[in-house]
Amino acid sequence: MRAVFAALALAVAFAMPHMALAQGDPASGAKAYYICYNCHSLEPGVHLTGPSLAGLWGKKAGSVEGFTRYSQALQAAEFAWTEQTLDAWFKDPKALVPRSTMILRNMEHAGVRANLIAFLKIALGPGGRAEVVAQGLLSDEHAMGRVPKALRDAAPDRQVTGIRHCGDAYVVSTADGAETLFWERNLHFKTDAGDRGPRPGHPVLVEIGSVGDRASVVFASPAELALAVEHTCP
Ligand code: HEC
Repeated sequence: MRAVFAALALAVAFAMPHMALAQGDPASGAKAYYICYNCHSLEPGVHLTGPSLAGLWGKKAGSVEGFTRYSQALQAAEFAWTEQTLDAWFKDPKALVPRSTMILRNMEHAGVRANLIAFLKIALGPGGRAEVVAQGLLSDEHAMGRVPKALRDAAPDRQVTGIRHCGDAYVVSTADGAETLFWERNLHFKTDAGDRGPRPGHPVLVEIGSVGDRASVVFASPAELALAVEHTCP
């Protein structure tokens, strides 16, 4: 009996090889891409949390030039990106590549994946960023990805001139003469040594979240972190 079912399943699979990958609609797929924009750019060489997806169609997995934060697992993967592998990746990245690190939710619907892949066929093809904008599928801003703001020329109220730790608070002084208090759990310390980071020696205060009680201080290098905070209470 089991053999009969197996044979039947096989026959169905062969009769309808494309059943699982129905033709998708790129315009609907572009909407599904909004979540990807948080971590990926379609501009070549622009790497965010994830690598630039420019020109990825047909390319070997884990091989985008200049992206240095791949998991070992994805780097070692031996397949190329096609309709089939992308579908498996979006369905469950860790099932396709165990120990890979991309976090993705809400892609269990095959129709949603088919639409997304129809969109990606254009977006990940030659000149994809310009093409999706030209076809009216995606705004140029979304095609570029959520690139953090450049911090070189921060306004005085963002330029950090001193940081003190006292009790459970950080007191952050800025170039406009203000002092702002943060609960120590709400102030994040970050670095950006790249083009978009602050100038050396000029850390910048950046608000995070929408409530107004959380912020990051971004430094130009980790070496600056060690010298940044004084432990004094008035
Ligand atoms: C939270 C951040 C995040 C989101 C959201 C995200 N990705 Fe990723 N993506 C990553 C990271 C990180 C990697 C590298 C994973 C690794 O190295 O294991 C990756 C890898 C990939 C790869 C393989 C790249 C390569 O060079 O082989 C593809 C394709 C991809 N993502 C497409 C997408 C698409 C399309 C979406 C939206 C449906 C999406 N990602 C959403 C972070 C994200």
